Amino acid sequence: MLRSLRELDVTGRRVLVRVDYNVPLEDGQIADDTRLRESLPTLEYLLAHHAKIILVSHLGRPKGKVVPELRLDPVARRLSEILQRPVTKLDECIGPEVQRATSQMQPGDIILLENIRFYPQEEANDETFARELAQLADCYVNDAFGTAHRAHASTYGVARFLPSAAGLLLEREVAMLSRAVDNPARPFLAIVGGAKLADKIGVLKDLIGRVDAFLIGGSVAFTLLRAQGAPVGSSPVDEKLLDEARATLHAARTAGTQLVLPVDAQIVRGSERAVAPATAIPEGWQGWDIGPQTIELFTHHIKSAKTIVWAGPLGRFEDPPYDEGTRKVAQAIAQSKAFAIIGGGDTAAALHRWGLGQAQNIYCSTGGGATLEFIAGRKLPPIEILRA
Ligand code: 3PG
Repeated sequence: MLRSLRELDVTGRRVLVRVDYNVPLEDGQIADDTRLRESLPTLEYLLAHHAKIILVSHLGRPKGKVVPELRLDPVARRLSEILQRPVTKLDECIGPEVQRATSQMQPGDIILLENIRFYPQEEANDETFARELAQLADCYVNDAFGTAHRAHASTYGVARFLPSAAGLLLEREVAMLSRAVDNPARPFLAIVGGAKLADKIGVLKDLIGRVDAFLIGGSVAFTLLRAQGAPVGSSPVDEKLLDEARATLHAARTAGTQLVLPVDAQIVRGSERAVAPATAIPEGWQGWDIGPQTIELFTHHIKSAKTIVWAGPLGRFEDPPYDEGTRKVAQAIAQSKAFAIIGGGDTAAALHRWGLGQAQNIYCSTGGGATLEFIAGRKLPPIEILRA
């Protein structure tokens, strides 16, 4: 059982809340504020209990240095608009200034600390740094499900030094995703797309034997097709991963987990466009989306599925008409009887754009990597440390 925020004495106290406000930015503005809105139940609970809220988040990957474009000022502004109350942004996370500001807080005050990844101690899970963060507050709440696969100072280390609990978002994510971990209804499908196989291959391997079939699209499919010896033209292939890809295909076969690769693709060369077999893409052409036969094949699998996990778009969905594969697969899921979990901001944003994000059977998780790791059955230290 996760320790819940509801069991924590927060009234009138300073609560350090780790949120995941790692949101997409365009020209310095927040392009999608879903992660801010998803943190509202926890913030509203704390406000209703007259807590003093100290928010901490990362944004991007500044690698332990101050990167001015990754400061959290736009996040504070948007959060303040959403909450209709002031959010004080500080330019640091620790030190005398932060101690002074946090010690003078009144119930209902909200402070947002600076991007925690400006400090190299964060990703190193440095103990002294975690203690300094802990000294700012009376208790700690982790609501950053999207970052739950990173054992960092603000997601893990700090929980050792304060009474701590899971926030309402983290609690909901764990409850929903557990449906795909503990006795999932079968057939259980994992749909995997996106750009980088390197980010996903470990989880793919862990999912072998847990799921009944994989449907693979997006750029990640080309490395797997290439590993089988297929010519994929100029489509992106991660040469370094070919051996591992071959081992993964072999492991899936041995375990009896079906691995369904695209049979055709929408291909592009300059301004020319065509459909070709996915195993015979001519030199100079690049696959930009799954083709019509693959859509049909994937839809067939989706129709009989009872549980689906989907991470990563199946083509260049931001670039119509190469959104067709992702869109039609999303529609097939919305019309199916399966309980579907969508991970990763890109895929969820696409579903919302097509009006499918609210479909009754679809749960959009705020996590990407964290969602996949959780479903693959990995123990995530920031969650484990909150178990009673
Ligand atoms: C995410 O967006 O998946 C999380 O915020 C984690 O970000 P990271 O991959 O940079 O740790």
